[in-house]
Amino acid sequence: MNILVTGGTGFIGSHTLVELYQAGHRAVVVDNLCNSSQQVLGRVERLLGLAEGEIPFYEVDICDEQGLERMLERHSVDACIHFAGLKAVGESVEKPWLYYSNNIGGTLTLLKVMERHGCKNMVFSSSATVYGEAAAMPLVEDCPKGQCTNPYGWTKSMIEQVLTDVQRADAEWNIVLLRYFNPVGAHPSGLIGENPRGVPNNLMPYITQVAAGQRRELCIFGSDYPTPDGTGVRDYIHVCDLALSHIAALGAVARRCGLEVYNIGTGKGYSVLEMVQTFERVNGVKVPYRIGERRAGDVAECWCDPSKARRELGWQAKLGLEDMVRDSWHWQQSCGMP
Ligand code: NAD
Ligand code: WQD
Repeated sequence: MNILVTGGTGFIGSHTLVELYQAGHRAVVVDNLCNSSQQVLGRVERLLGLAEGEIPFYEVDICDEQGLERMLERHSVDACIHFAGLKAVGESVEKPWLYYSNNIGGTLTLLKVMERHGCKNMVFSSSATVYGEAAAMPLVEDCPKGQCTNPYGWTKSMIEQVLTDVQRADAEWNIVLLRYFNPVGAHPSGLIGENPRGVPNNLMPYITQVAAGQRRELCIFGSDYPTPDGTGVRDYIHVCDLALSHIAALGAVARRCGLEVYNIGTGKGYSVLEMVQTFERVNGVKVPYRIGERRAGDVAECWCDPSKARRELGWQAKLGLEDMVRDSWHWQQSCGMP
């Protein structure tokens, strides 16, 4: 299939491009480069043994209807994997309008242009954050959605609702909502990975920067949660496994699935302290840390039952925590290389 990949130069998008081509698909990439660089595409092409410039790229904002229109006039696509969006939780609290406008406004524009070109197939990057503070773990897809603690989370929750209503109104649409848990790791080649700008918000890039000596110590946000060691528990998933879930979701779209929702995690929860200890053991480096206050908006635990994706998509995560910490560290050490 020929796949429109919005946000394709980003962290998850770039890894998914690799898996798309390896599975025999092709892609057209749209990104406004607000949180990524076009160099990533060259690296993806190198990794795949493609010629430079072989993956068509459009530096276009998904809010730009004419820009999307011009791109779809030149390329006939079978489906869209829609990654483009802003994702910094703290920034979304400061700039809610920007987040609602970019994430929701952009998605509405994208849907309009896709529909006009007769492409009614989409895989959307949703998030575990739509569950809010759930009563019990593990999370299953039919747990009710909850109250989000920030505008970023609400954009995901609201876009899910928009897509559900669009599909309900027109059964020609096939839409898969993938609720990612905590993506970490990087491609084992060391050529692509996550490139956070400024101080990282997320645990893994913070750990790798501390291990590399770029930051003094990790602050563990709270050690008094009702979890086995008191620190927060999350369902970390290797980005290469996550990328493969999109290929599986395209299969569902091709089978005309209507609207489906899947949890994309490993089904195992690990605490912050377990992450730090595993990172130190596997990579043979120290990660100095101190215990600090809880971070506002954090939940004690968040992990899923991913069995629906296994049953219906034939997808399950294969990589474990050791692969995640090894590949994250490898990327940290090689990301400055040309
Ligand atoms: P990322 O920032 O690396 O990638 C997103 C890409 O979208 C970037 O390249 C950015 O330049 C682009 N973009 C943003 N707004 C755009 C616009 N208006 N027009 C065109 N391009 C635009 O983030 P990621 O981690 O790869 O996340 C991909 C998707 O997955 C996002 O929608 C994110 O919300 C979602 N998600 C991420 C996580 C996570 O922890 N990384 C968890 C759950 C869901
Ligand atoms: C993981 C654990 C922290 C940093 C966020 C978004 C969510 C989704 C994924 C996009 C928690 C602890 C962290 C640090 C710490 N993104 N931590 N010190 O909060 O589960 O999810 O990213 O959809 O929407 O909210 O991920 O990596 O920030 O935190 O102790 O410096 O690490 O308290 O327990 P989170 P995270």
